[in-house]
Amino acid sequence: MPHIQQLSSHVADLIAAGEVVERPASVVKELVENAIDAGASAIVVEIQRGGMGLIRVTDNGCGIAPEELPTAFLRHATSKLRTAEDLAKIGTLGFRGEALAAISAVSRVDVLTRRPGDTTGSAIHGEGGHMEPVREEGAPEGTTIRVADLFYNTPARLKFMKKDSAETAAVAGLMQHLALSHPDVSFKWNPPCTPPWAGNSPKRWCRYRVGAGTSRCGAL
Ligand SMILES: Nc1ncnc2c1ncn2[C@@H]1O[C@H](COP(=O)(O)OP(=O)(O)OP(=O)(O)O)[C@@H](O)[C@H]1O
Ligand SMILES: [Mg+2]
Repeated sequence: MPHIQQLSSHVADLIAAGEVVERPASVVKELVENAIDAGASAIVVEIQRGGMGLIRVTDNGCGIAPEELPTAFLRHATSKLRTAEDLAKIGTLGFRGEALAAISAVSRVDVLTRRPGDTTGSAIHGEGGHMEPVREEGAPEGTTIRVADLFYNTPARLKFMKKDSAETAAVAGLMQHLALSHPDVSFKWNPPCTPPWAGNSPKRWCRYRVGAGTSRCGAL
């Protein structure tokens, strides 16, 4: 047997990321749960190539403070938990402080965010877990997180991805589940409502507003 050695933090982070992010639907789940925890009443989800090319989640929630933006991408960094006692009374969907760190470790990430009341927004870009400095930028209230080239730096994981259509179907199932379990939140997403006879155009979106008694597909 080779000698026992402690893994570098880079390799350990990639392994930990694999536990959180198995496929595009895992990324969508984590980002939408963050948006719900942020108090969003409207969430837009966009994907390309089954989420392997691009995932973008936009919310109108509480936003992230510019000085806390880099911290959000560190492992075990959360605003939802402070002490061991808090573990007994979790009231949010997330609490581990792992999701953004995991997602950013295996993709190229961009965040644009502004808190209600702030005059300007802020943005950050990261690749493979390395986050660049925060920039000041104009932004609508809330947060947009864009995840591109998922698993670009983990070829072993990339090899096990299913066809784009299968990944899209997994995201579609997840979106229905999320919309049904959060009737107070308006969800809009593309492209799974495109019926087989519609071809590539027009661009179609799926809108869920369960609480309002509607769940429908519509063309934008
Ligand atoms: N869309 C968002 N709007 C506002 N704040 C956000 C958003 N997404 C993330 N955050 C902030 O970033 C922190 C880190 O997010 P992350 O998803 O990594 O951890 P978490 O949600 O606390 O726990 P978990 O890993 O279980 O999801 C959150 O605790 C929250 O404060
Ligand atoms: Mg989270």
